[in-house]
Amino acid sequence: MFETLEPKPGDAILKLIGEHKEDPRAEKIDLGVGVYRDAEGNTPILNSVKKAEHWLVGTQTSKAYLGSRGDIVFCDDVEKLVFGDDAADDDRISTVQSPGGSGALRVGAELILRANPDAVMWVSDPTWNNHIPLMGNAGLKLQPYPYYDGEKNSIRFDDMMETLGTANAGEIVLLHGCCHNPTGMDLSRDQWDLVTDLVEERSLMPFIDIAYQGFAEGLEDDTYGVRLMYGRVPEMIVTQSCSKNFGLYRDRVGALSFLSPDADTAKVVDSQALSLVRTIYSLPPDHGAAVVSHILNDEELRAEWLGELAGMRKRLQSMRKLLVEELKSVAPDHDFSHIALTTGMFCYLGVTPEQVAALKKDRGVYLVDSSRINVCGITEGNVRYLAESIASVL
Ligand code: LMR
Repeated sequence: MFETLEPKPGDAILKLIGEHKEDPRAEKIDLGVGVYRDAEGNTPILNSVKKAEHWLVGTQTSKAYLGSRGDIVFCDDVEKLVFGDDAADDDRISTVQSPGGSGALRVGAELILRANPDAVMWVSDPTWNNHIPLMGNAGLKLQPYPYYDGEKNSIRFDDMMETLGTANAGEIVLLHGCCHNPTGMDLSRDQWDLVTDLVEERSLMPFIDIAYQGFAEGLEDDTYGVRLMYGRVPEMIVTQSCSKNFGLYRDRVGALSFLSPDADTAKVVDSQALSLVRTIYSLPPDHGAAVVSHILNDEELRAEWLGELAGMRKRLQSMRKLLVEELKSVAPDHDFSHIALTTGMFCYLGVTPEQVAALKKDRGVYLVDSSRINVCGITEGNVRYLAESIASVL
């Protein structure tokens, strides 16, 4: 049977991990996959996480199944994180814990298809490279809406609004809650207001993927779009990830929340979500979620985590600035000022796939073909080499 299968190319982002690892050059730089790195280039386990893990090891008395929802306390905690403190008492919201943000996206897609097998989802052009296979392979009919102008390095907001203005009632709009992946260019608050008006007017359903909460402006500020829609629309889906803001990448911690028009509908939606989970992966992993829940409910640990999150955010902001300054000095004829306007882990450099290939081959600088860079890969020690490398391929 297996002889009928064709080989599949590796994922464009994940394959960079191996390529960078195998490169023997000492000066190599990894700007590929979206993981945080500190000033020494390491992806540390947060102190708050370490402490919570110690606490867990010392106090956990059982590893018995928790059920398809996962940990109820965790679900309440992350609902509050994204929708605000009152959300835990809102019986229109239902949440299931998921294996990372990707698990949440897939179950969300499957649930939409149970409700409407012909569902159409509008996705930003560009979007995270795994959104398309993840949601498309589930069976959603994907349509692009313009988002980024690679010439002007800015959001094509008018084009986006014009295209979404043609969407039909009931169609779904996938939006990035903050830290747009891959462009790093987020909607302004005014733009969120206008998108929300449009979503309401045309009876569209927002599906907000918020995988980088805390990496743009701050934990609360980054929820502007989600909370605005929450106050205005009858139905919405939100997927969250704790990979980045808690640094729990390999522990796979995420959540999937549904906003329904009323409590009775919410119960039905919840039962469908639980049945989907049961038939896809049965139950989510617990360890990372238990760690997150402990941190969020322990005043001291929560404060420590918020400090660590702010530290990661600030490092990203300062590395962006530094790169722009260095580029200005080594490539004065080229304008890279857009990089300073981006948020979160990513931005586009604005170079061609050929230039990306040359950066890899000649300089050991690894980034996605689209020219997306993970800003975390920049350090004070490598920024000069990086800027010179970029200048050398322009
Ligand atoms: C990324 O975009 O690099 C991250 O979200 C990691 C991934 O799974 O692609």
